[in-house]
Amino acid sequence: MTKALFVSHTAAPSGAELYVARLVTALRGLEVAVAFTADGPVAERMRAGGVETTIIQNDFDSRAMTIAGSGPAGLVKGFFALLRLGSALGSVTRRSAASVLVAESTKALIVGAVAARVARIPLVWHVHDRISAEYFGRALAPLVRVFGWAVSDAYIANSRSTLSSLIRWRKPALVAYPGVEIDGGRPRPSQRSPEKTVVVVVGRLTRWKGQDVFLRALAQVAVRPAHVYLVGGTFFGEEPFQNELQLLADDLGLPVTFTGHVDDPTYYMRRADILVHCSVIAEPFGAVVVEGMNAGCAVIASQPGGPTEIIEPGVNGLLVDAGDQAQLTAALDELIGDPDLRRRLSAAAPARATHFDINDSARDVAGFLDVLVATSHRGRAAHVRS
Ligand code: GLC
Repeated sequence: MTKALFVSHTAAPSGAELYVARLVTALRGLEVAVAFTADGPVAERMRAGGVETTIIQNDFDSRAMTIAGSGPAGLVKGFFALLRLGSALGSVTRRSAASVLVAESTKALIVGAVAARVARIPLVWHVHDRISAEYFGRALAPLVRVFGWAVSDAYIANSRSTLSSLIRWRKPALVAYPGVEIDGGRPRPSQRSPEKTVVVVVGRLTRWKGQDVFLRALAQVAVRPAHVYLVGGTFFGEEPFQNELQLLADDLGLPVTFTGHVDDPTYYMRRADILVHCSVIAEPFGAVVVEGMNAGCAVIASQPGGPTEIIEPGVNGLLVDAGDQAQLTAALDELIGDPDLRRRLSAAAPARATHFDINDSARDVAGFLDVLVATSHRGRAAHVRS
């Protein structure tokens, strides 16, 4: 039986890691294990769920190596530290008798590249970020793209948009949308009148998620909502941004509650009329958009990127251009002022969300990994014979 080892450089509960935890739990018909290069809540959750979980002990603080915060010297130093971690992961991989490695981030890809060679098994790059200049910077993006192409045997991308940011040439690839657990439209309050509207924004508090643009856009609406929940934590040194958002909300006199990270954001989604997603660059996928639709919110999301693959504008949500504050104000005005429109969008949204069932993604991923392992065995056997 195929045994897949999923490798992550962080166990913080951020989007990619939360989705991987959901995916690993939903996978059937293959054995799974996970390895983290740092301990944290997601590793804890995996252990508690009975998944074979390894923390690779090391003294490398991966948070110190950020795209924005490290100069070239820092990146090179970090790169070599990751290579060292790779050989440790190689031993873990051999011990756990994994037949395929799945790297869940760019850092995990570097670690995984070494480990997969040590253990002589295929490496899959599960891509959660668009490998673009706007995200990685002009110099780094092409390097990451070429490195990923060179070291991995296949890609799994979280959207067509993410896949289009990679080098496709001669690389088996699967688009597996991050799925949600479909709850069949649990009861929730009906859409409120304009001045009673509740709005929720869910996501890590980080600049590219655009919560500042949202607050400024909201300050301009004709009828202010009764309440706003900004749900999301800071995991990677983003506390200054959180302070900035709090000051901004106070300055603008907006009724905002900062909840911090919560394990179950659907609690807030079910209480909100409108969910806003407002990333200022192309969102790779945008799992919160599907979660909001599943919870029956009227959703506004930003384009381009993953949300364009989820929302049919005017049918089950609205799309605005990323970073365009005036458009966001207009969309908020439209929704806040028109409860009927909200009712229509939120009634259609859960049906659309069923296209993103985690069990479907898990089945596709399992099938893809099985085929990859089978063909790589055949490849190796042919190589040995020749
Ligand atoms: C990352 C992406 C997000 C995606 C998630 C799961 O957090 O930024 O768009 O939904 O990974 O793949």
